[in-house]
Amino acid sequence: MNNIVGLLLFNYYFAIVASDGYLLETKYIDVPIDHFSYTTNATFKLRYLVNDSYHGHGGPIFFYTGNEGDINNFAQNTGFMFDIAKSFEAALVFAEHRYYGTSLPFGNQSYVSPTNLGYLTSQQALADFVLIIDHLQDVYENQKNMKKLPVIAFGGSYGGMLAAYIRMKYPASVFGAIASSAPIWQFNGLIPCEDFYRITTSVYGSYSKKCATTIKNTWKIIRSFTQTPAGKANLSSLWNLCAPLNTEGDIKTLVEWVSEIIINMAMVNYPYPTSFLTALPAYPVLEFCSQLDSLTWKDEYGLLAAIGESLQIYTNYTKSVKCNVIAETSSQLDERGWNFQACTEMIMPMCSTEVDMFENEPWDFQKYSDECYKNFNIRPRAQNEPILEYGGKDIDAASNIIFSNGLLDPWSSGGVLITRNNNIKAIIIPDGAHHYDLRGQNEKDTNSVKIVREMHVNEIRRWLNRYYYDVIPKVERV
Ligand SMILES: *[C@@H]1O[C@H](CO)[C@@H](O)[C@H](O)[C@H]1NC(C)=O
Ligand SMILES: *[C@@H]1O[C@H](CO)[C@@H](O)[C@H](O)[C@H]1NC(C)=O
Ligand SMILES: *[C@@H]1O[C@H](CO)[C@@H](O)[C@H](O)[C@H]1NC(C)=O
Ligand SMILES: *[C@@H]1O[C@H](CO)[C@@H](O)[C@H](O)[C@H]1NC(C)=O
Ligand SMILES: *[C@@H]1O[C@H](CO)[C@@H](O)[C@H](O)[C@H]1NC(C)=O
Repeated sequence: MNNIVGLLLFNYYFAIVASDGYLLETKYIDVPIDHFSYTTNATFKLRYLVNDSYHGHGGPIFFYTGNEGDINNFAQNTGFMFDIAKSFEAALVFAEHRYYGTSLPFGNQSYVSPTNLGYLTSQQALADFVLIIDHLQDVYENQKNMKKLPVIAFGGSYGGMLAAYIRMKYPASVFGAIASSAPIWQFNGLIPCEDFYRITTSVYGSYSKKCATTIKNTWKIIRSFTQTPAGKANLSSLWNLCAPLNTEGDIKTLVEWVSEIIINMAMVNYPYPTSFLTALPAYPVLEFCSQLDSLTWKDEYGLLAAIGESLQIYTNYTKSVKCNVIAETSSQLDERGWNFQACTEMIMPMCSTEVDMFENEPWDFQKYSDECYKNFNIRPRAQNEPILEYGGKDIDAASNIIFSNGLLDPWSSGGVLITRNNNIKAIIIPDGAHHYDLRGQNEKDTNSVKIVREMHVNEIRRWLNRYYYDVIPKVERV
């Protein structure tokens, strides 16, 4: 199985962004391609989105630390920030992560070589964000009677990691952070590598044991059914694949494609229809399992037909998809970006075992590294690099961070579910999927997410009170 699971695989669907969504102005800022050396002065245009309609005198800046995709998609799917902007009189800013969307350091040459891709790191991205924040402080200078407006970072998933990291690394720029579904502990040795797949399995199992068992049986049936050219041709037509299966590599891609769909459905198992990853019904896992459980079959072909039909909940909810591109999750520019990050800084060990419903695959760093070399001509350095860079579990010195996690989210495996320090809080959404709390309010929202959003608001208010009444007067006096 592909261990380089795209953190958030929505990149290739961003065209679906609702045109009637939230309004923002698009801006650009010149940032250095390399923040950390003085060997080049080259810059590029980094994109960010602003909505300051609600911004009041001296009000805070709510700053979304963009992740691995077009920033518009994150802005449209982070309604929570819009919902609370008015009561905080906050300016809303969504910053694009370098190498995604239009923020390409070398234009259409950004991905052509390891040399050009080498500036794609979280550290460079954080330095970009700090420059935007500094620029915003200048822009809003005439609006305030203090040196700096308070900045609160928001982010989900990898963006949530960045929200936490920017607060840890640059506390003078960012005063607090809401880090939703941020798997900052999904690194070597911090958690068992099988947790991710185990949680995904339990999400399906919680709807139906039968469903999880059927999925578990599927992998070896895909493998055996497609051993012959006739079998490959048969499955290609049964599942409406755009390109017929030919090689063993194609079968591997197919297995990864199915696995990723199953994982994605768990990630976006929201109580109402969404178009975040792709057009999906409410509770897609429930839909998938109900559909699968309602079908019967008497042989391998029948099981594959049932799986294929059920997968359409994800692949063809609009009923307008002509055929399935199974390589799609790996050919997209943005996904390539994440895969590069996963091959350099963001080494997140994962493994599947007998206890989960996925095809067994141990964590094998050497194999992973070889795959990276094949794809990008680079190899990751030591597995503990991100731990040295960001502290691993040793985050007690941090403050003003909320880590929120939905327990039905596969990525809660690497989330901070408990803290030892009252200045950083861990909040659980028992029935929540991937960064559910950052979504805009919806009439179908569960009570737990409403409570968690209220906790965020109270905590942000507490931070801001401290900033205005305690921090600022002292800083101004210096
Ligand atoms: C900011 O967002 C609000 C709510 O969506 C919208 O009414 C307003 O027009 C937006 N402002 C700008 C400048 O886009
Ligand atoms: C960068 O810009 C400075 C100031 O304009 C200049 O003195 C320096 O030579 C430049 N460095 C490089 C590597 O081009
Ligand atoms: C890349 O960008 C350059 C300059 O903008 C343009 O001339 C060229 O056609 C582009 N190439 C591709 C393959 O899009
Ligand atoms: C695929 O295989 C099944 C079962 O072996 C058979 O019934 C069906 O006709 C085959 N379909 C094609 C298109 O070959
Ligand atoms: C999507 O659904 C439509 C309508 O049911 C069907 O004609 C089409 O073949 C489906 N596409 C795929 C890829 O299964």
